[in-house]
Amino acid sequence: MTRSRTLSAAARPSCRTSFILATMAVIAFFMLSMIAHAADDKDRGLSDEDMACLKCHAKPDLEKTLGNGKKLSLYIGTKTFAGSVHGKEGCEGCHAEIDAKTHGKEKTSLESKRELSLSMMETCRDCHKKTVKQYEDSVHAALVQEGSKKAPLCSDCHDPHATQSSKDAPAHTDTVICQKCHESIDKAYTASVHGQAGDDALVCADCHHTHNVKAASLGDNMKKECISCHRDTATTHATWLPNTQRHLEAISCPACHSPGAKRRVNLRLYDGMTQQQASDKVGVPQFIKLAPGADANAAGLDSRALWSMLQDFNRDGAKEKTVLRGRLEVRTGIEAHQLAKKEQALKDCDTCHREGAESFQSVTISIAGPDGRPLRRDAGKGVLNSIESIESVSGFYALGSTRIKLLDTLLALTVAAGILLPGAHLTAKWLSRRARDKHEAVKDSSETSRPDSDMLN
Ligand code: HEC
Ligand code: HEC
Ligand code: HEC
Ligand code: HEC
Ligand code: HEC
Ligand code: HEC
Ligand code: HEC
Ligand code: HEC
Ligand code: HEC
Repeated sequence: MTRSRTLSAAARPSCRTSFILATMAVIAFFMLSMIAHAADDKDRGLSDEDMACLKCHAKPDLEKTLGNGKKLSLYIGTKTFAGSVHGKEGCEGCHAEIDAKTHGKEKTSLESKRELSLSMMETCRDCHKKTVKQYEDSVHAALVQEGSKKAPLCSDCHDPHATQSSKDAPAHTDTVICQKCHESIDKAYTASVHGQAGDDALVCADCHHTHNVKAASLGDNMKKECISCHRDTATTHATWLPNTQRHLEAISCPACHSPGAKRRVNLRLYDGMTQQQASDKVGVPQFIKLAPGADANAAGLDSRALWSMLQDFNRDGAKEKTVLRGRLEVRTGIEAHQLAKKEQALKDCDTCHREGAESFQSVTISIAGPDGRPLRRDAGKGVLNSIESIESVSGFYALGSTRIKLLDTLLALTVAAGILLPGAHLTAKWLSRRARDKHEAVKDSSETSRPDSDMLN
């Protein structure tokens, strides 16, 4: 018994110790796990305040009926938010304006999700000044300013509650984003030489930028982008194309590199003073106002109407005239993206330098609209031959049948002489000088008595 007593006596204290130890361990475990839990939330950057918001907003079925009749889900995934780049900023980083006293208790009216997104956009500026500035200079932002319901806001491209760093994003994510709204262009682009270049494939932003997207057909915007990668364009083309600079000025790159495209001549209004593409003045939309009047029967502006429109543009004593500059371009945005391998590019002089060439049968007049995108009017192809437009088409009076005949002669000469490029180049120089002299002469005498147009034929 003693033995057992002793035993039990010996056992008792140890039993108590282990009980205490076990209790302590359990308590320690709970405390540690609580600390760990708290640290877990801290690590994810979720503060008590955030957790308070999420008490309601982590409920998957929380929603709100919008003014437009649709339902807006108010669910915010805790894990997703915590794991996003904004997790550390907390809800308050963007939703500082929420009034805890009334919020969630009273219903507020909201017409649409777009209205909320629009009203929230200003908060992005607090932390992303540079990006917001770039976006504000874009055609997308200009469209939003004009009231477009379709142009993208920040949150159309970035889910603010789930934003991941773009460094972790799979390649070409940004093309997927653009594709949402520009589906047909994306399709054309994907099949193009750039879209098919495997690891070298470009993304939309390589030519258009991501935030600072500019109107694509304004001035030389796109050509500059092409040349920023294809730096030796001028030299490589000069090996076969005489008057290379002139051609590259007067013809858009896709007009030759999108082999199936239909082409047209676009006469762009230029401000003689700034040497920039003229834009319709805000508040004084001259082009919109004048052009329909000048083209009353909607058959396309004829040369007389065009001439009188230009007169109107230049009426208020502007020293430097508004002029027209021609550019041969493709007719649609889709065609602009169907660039093919160089073997398929347009090389035949004859495609363009031939009377009745397809490319010169369609003519438009355009001016830059308030957002930079062009406002266009159709014109009769006759304007290319007319004295009136010749007079005002600076450096691009070649497109009429007049000049095409001239170039026919050039080609005949080239072929007949059997000399190809060097000869063509010299002849071109000579011919174009003659043509320019003639042009000057026409200009000089055309103020008062307009010469018979036959003179030019
Ligand atoms: C980086 C800025 C940002 C942070 C941080 C942020 N939000 Fe938002 N939140 C927005 C924007 C912007 C909208 C407007 C809707 C949109 O454009 O997607 C929005 C909309 C909402 C909506 C309306 C439903 C919806 O998805 O449009 C709820 C609810 C919401 N936020 C809750 C929260 C909660 C809760 C947190 C913190 C856990 C939080 N937000 C953190 C920017 C943010
Ligand atoms: C008590 C629950 C509750 C809490 C806590 C709560 N919300 Fe809400 N929240 C709601 C309800 C309910 C609505 C819908 C109100 C309505 O229908 O007008 C809502 C709507 C919103 C909206 C949509 C825009 C609007 O005002 O209707 C945003 C954004 C939002 N909450 C963010 C937050 C943020 C951020 C927090 C934390 C600071 C928070 N909420 C805390 C319940 C809550
Ligand atoms: C309170 C500050 C804050 C606000 C407000 C905020 N952000 Fe951020 N944002 C950050 C921080 C911090 C990062 C992560 C660091 C970084 O990459 O700049 C980030 C990262 C991003 C990224 C990912 C950058 C990358 O690496 O690819 C995007 C996209 C983004 N924010 C969009 C938005 C949008 C859209 C809004 C407005 C709805 C917004 N942010 C508002 C702080 C903020
Ligand atoms: C048309 C889609 C689109 C819109 C609109 C847009 N973004 Fe982005 N943004 C992207 C893409 C794609 C990327 C990642 C690739 C890149 O940087 O070009 C990005 C990257 C970012 C980045 C990280 C890199 C950087 O440039 O700083 C931030 C921050 C950001 N966006 C914030 C914003 C904010 C703020 C707005 C609104 C003013 C906005 N974005 C509007 C598509 C868009
Ligand atoms: C290799 C350069 C390049 C790439 C890559 C590119 N574009 Fe373009 N984009 C152009 C050119 C060139 C034009 C036409 C400019 C002109 O009218 O002279 C254009 C025009 C546009 C236009 C205006 C279309 C119209 O109707 O006038 C949109 C919209 C556009 N691109 C979107 C995209 C999208 C979306 C992607 C990606 C899927 C993309 N682009 C990829 C060069 C490019
Ligand atoms: C939420 C929809 C939306 C998204 C996303 C979007 N765009 Fe746009 N974009 C528009 C709308 C609407 C217009 C104006 C109509 C048009 O020209 O197609 C426009 C116009 C343009 C234009 C000018 C067209 C012109 O005539 O000059 C270009 C270039 C362009 N987007 C490129 C992009 C690129 C690049 C991306 C991706 C980084 C992108 N867009 C993402 C809606 C979107
Ligand atoms: C008059 C039609 C025409 C115009 C305008 C034109 N190209 Fe080309 N381009 C061609 C032809 C034809 C080839 C193929 C030449 C050959 O046979 O090697 C070519 C070749 C190329 C190549 C392949 C590599 C090389 O240089 O030989 C690139 C890149 C290219 N062009 C880019 C451009 C860019 C950028 C522009 C606008 C600034 C442009 N091209 C304007 C007809 C044209
Ligand atoms: C970001 C750089 C980049 C920009 C911007 C760019 N390209 Fe390219 N281009 C490439 C790459 C890369 C290839 C494929 C590799 C190669 O063959 O040179 C390519 C191929 C081509 C080819 C086919 C060349 C061949 O050998 O068959 C043509 C034509 C071409 N580009 C024209 C253009 C035109 C026109 C533009 C502007 C609208 C443009 N590129 C803008 C990088 C660019
Ligand atoms: C895609 C249509 C196109 C192709 C292909 C083309 N040209 Fe031209 N070419 C033009 C246009 C447009 C002009 C008018 C430029 C102007 O008015 O100054 C022009 C102007 C010229 C000029 C006169 C330049 C001047 O300054 O007066 C010569 C010479 C010429 N091209 C020769 C050729 C030869 C040779 C080829 C074939 C190797 C060729 N072109 C291919 C469209 C084309």
